[in-house]
Amino acid sequence: MTASTPSPLTSDADWWRSAVVYQVYVRSFADSDGDGIGDLQGIRERLPYLRDLGVDALWLTPFYTSPMVDGGYDVADYRDVDPMFGTLGDFEAMITDAHALGLRIIVDLVPNHTSDQHPWFQAALAAAPGAAERARYLFADGRGEDGAQPPNDWESIFGGPAWTRIDDGQWYLHLFDPTQPDLNWRHREVRAEFEDVLRFWLDRGVDGFRIDVAHGMIKADGLPDVGFSSMTTGRRQSELLGKGRLPYFDQDEVHDIYRTWRPILDSYPGGRMAVAEAWAETPQRLARYIGPDELHQAFSFDFLDATWSADSFRKVIDTALGESTIVGAPTTWVLSNHDRQRHVTRYGDGEVGLRRARAAALLMLALPGCAYLYQGEELGLPEVLDLPDELRQDPAFLRTGESRDGCRVPIPWSGDLAPYGFGPAGSALSWLPAPATWQSLSVAAQAGVPGSTLELYRAALRIRHTHPALAGVGGITWRQTGPDVLAFHREVDSVVLTCVVNTGDSPVLIDGYGTPLVASAPLTERDGGHLLPGDTAAWFERR
Ligand code: GLC
Ligand code: MG
Repeated sequence: MTASTPSPLTSDADWWRSAVVYQVYVRSFADSDGDGIGDLQGIRERLPYLRDLGVDALWLTPFYTSPMVDGGYDVADYRDVDPMFGTLGDFEAMITDAHALGLRIIVDLVPNHTSDQHPWFQAALAAAPGAAERARYLFADGRGEDGAQPPNDWESIFGGPAWTRIDDGQWYLHLFDPTQPDLNWRHREVRAEFEDVLRFWLDRGVDGFRIDVAHGMIKADGLPDVGFSSMTTGRRQSELLGKGRLPYFDQDEVHDIYRTWRPILDSYPGGRMAVAEAWAETPQRLARYIGPDELHQAFSFDFLDATWSADSFRKVIDTALGESTIVGAPTTWVLSNHDRQRHVTRYGDGEVGLRRARAAALLMLALPGCAYLYQGEELGLPEVLDLPDELRQDPAFLRTGESRDGCRVPIPWSGDLAPYGFGPAGSALSWLPAPATWQSLSVAAQAGVPGSTLELYRAALRIRHTHPALAGVGGITWRQTGPDVLAFHREVDSVVLTCVVNTGDSPVLIDGYGTPLVASAPLTERDGGHLLPGDTAAWFERR
């Protein structure tokens, strides 16, 4: 790198502990050149919007050279930008501007597998069975007569067998699409390569990494059979829980990798961090990914999976906070991402879903720890359920009938015509079509409008950043409440902030928590207290 290396913002090495991170699904955020695909220059142009929203950092999904079979999670060159997203120069300009605005940048690292177009895999295909070029992946001979059966019974997370046979008769492993061959993480060169890739992006000023499939890199010795089918149902890896540890997930040896990465991150100034997308059987095992010698965070997907009830939220919050106390690291909350149905829709869709989603946002943003927002949730976007099949691009769709495209529809920014300002003026292109109902959900339609979801997020983020009780990472105290009501407070120097969520449908009287600071739906004063409507959350302050 040259002398222009962007420097991290402050020396606050612990910035990530209570940060709000905004996930940018690059392909669908903002399109600067009118090709219908979001790009780095588009992000750069929208940075002021994100600063004004009040987030601390962005997580960018993969923008590396890729045939885009799995939306860029199939990387062909880990050190370059795909032309559809721009150039390395665009990345450098974007990160320089982001830092100047006080926004940190987290990039996605995809270490479990490469694209089949990666030079290493191409070399492996060109080489003979047993050649050194094949050793960087997981090639094996098949079973049965002529080796016509896969080497074991493992299934791809995208459906079908996890093995594909090539012309010379050998098979290779792919936990995801056949175009995403799994790397052999017991190979010295694989480890060295990714250590170098980490440095490549750290040298360019990135503040952190989101580690894709962080629990998957090590496979059990001998590649043993699992012994039952539907081991990973569609994309819902959480359904694995309780079935016993799979030989390709959460193997103890995976922690060696993170123990080698941590000193690399720590050798850079400014608090460079990493967050694991990891799935483990128990919260205890998930917590092992976090700590001073491994990663900084792991998404708490149990929170995302919680159903709309006070009881369900309270359980997952207690478990997550309990684990975080043990490992001495904050919890990492998330309600939506590019792999899961948007939470407006998960909570019932339509008006009810939106009410609940707004309330859930206030719940999440009042909790101690780091929160990840997914682009468009600040607009209250629902899942697009009726995309025509022929437009769906998720590789899992063809194999399982389940598709993640509905949460990846381009963001509506402004205007009356689809795709609502996603591209430059006059551009009608977008790689997935936005529904007509999104005109009224655009940024321009909501900005400055009291009560809009965008203004709710802006208000909550402003309070979160400035309120003494929310600024820190201190714990929560539950309050005594009814069955449909969740209430907890956080307190600093006798300033008490109470978050109350009514998950039922009838209003409840809230008394004694002080002045309301923000609410997801209007409160009415009653008998010296406040009526909190159904499916609503509010923050109260007492000094
Ligand atoms: C992660 C990503 C997902 C991708 C998969 C394979 O789960 O979030 O989008 O399909 O890994 O890389
Ligand atoms: Mg573009």
